Amino acid sequence: MSKIFLTDAPVVSNEEVANRIYRLKLRAPEFASENRPGQFINILTNPDGAPLWRRPFSIARISIDIIEIIYKAIGIGTNQMAGLQSGDAANIIGPLGNSFTVDIGERTPLLIGGGLGFAPLVVLRDYFVSRTKRPVLFIGALNADEHYYTDDPDADLNLSTDDGSLGFHGLVTEQLEQYLDEQEAGTEFMAYSCGPEPMMKAIAHICRDREIPLELSIEREMACGIGLCQGCSIEQHLPQKKFALVCKDGPIFNAMHLTFTD
Ligand SMILES: Cc1cc2nc3c(=O)[nH]c(=O)nc-3n(C[C@H](O)[C@H](O)[C@H](O)COP(=O)(O)OP(=O)(O)OC[C@H]3O[C@@H](n4cnc5c(N)ncnc54)[C@H](O)[C@@H]3O)c2cc1C
Ligand code: FES
Repeated sequence: MSKIFLTDAPVVSNEEVANRIYRLKLRAPEFASENRPGQFINILTNPDGAPLWRRPFSIARISIDIIEIIYKAIGIGTNQMAGLQSGDAANIIGPLGNSFTVDIGERTPLLIGGGLGFAPLVVLRDYFVSRTKRPVLFIGALNADEHYYTDDPDADLNLSTDDGSLGFHGLVTEQLEQYLDEQEAGTEFMAYSCGPEPMMKAIAHICRDREIPLELSIEREMACGIGLCQGCSIEQHLPQKKFALVCKDGPIFNAMHLTFTD
């Protein structure tokens, strides 16, 4: 298990990269050295008042001393975060949770994100690229304004939009199926996904039919974030633990263990 730190991390930058979507860079060298792809941090968005509970965010990217998160301003905490500026500090705990399986032999990594769901997959993409693998990325969004990751010379990047304003016109799952149907028989993949649960369920069906192992990064509203309040449970099939905690047992799960993917 990696060490967990509590620190006031200086804000390096906090840039709006798409419609209400921000990239926050924090200087946190201790986190950068401990993080494994898939882990998250908990941010205290307002040290002086509400909300009292910290908000969880996947670590999207790490360099030597900087961690990056990509978030959408959707509510009280994330709108407070949108006001952070260089020179401020953010109180964070982490890195938390388990991590993706990265030892995949000769398999080709397939990374499939829906909307903001690509955030935890960026760090996984970096991991594979740094080990000379060329991942295949699928990112779907409602429209072009919601896409924040649009260029990647070191990966096979496939973008889709529901309204056809960028890339493939249709659902990310349709583009994924089309791609898999065109691959030579015997090509082996390892798939990873994060996004809305109906999308992850559809991806689980596509992967199950083709015997592709799939790991999911699961999001739940969290209170304590450390396994105390039992507020973030998710149901699994036996013989796995019937109700797992996303904050402690996750956020990464084998898709076939989770009942919602049936
Ligand atoms: C492990 C993990 C990793 C995450 N990584 C990211 C990330 O990389 N980028 C990102 O933008 N978001 C991420 N989220 C979701 C993020 O935590 C929520 O968007 C955030 O907590 C909302 O806080 P708020 O105070 O702005 O929203 P609130 O004002 O509390 O709520 C606004 C709306 O958002 C919904 N909501 C609140 N919390 C969550 C949640 N945890 N998951 C889903 N919906 C929620 C509420 O039901 C409500 O409808 C992650 C969540 C988890 C559990
Ligand atoms: S958020 Fe409290 S147990 Fe998971």
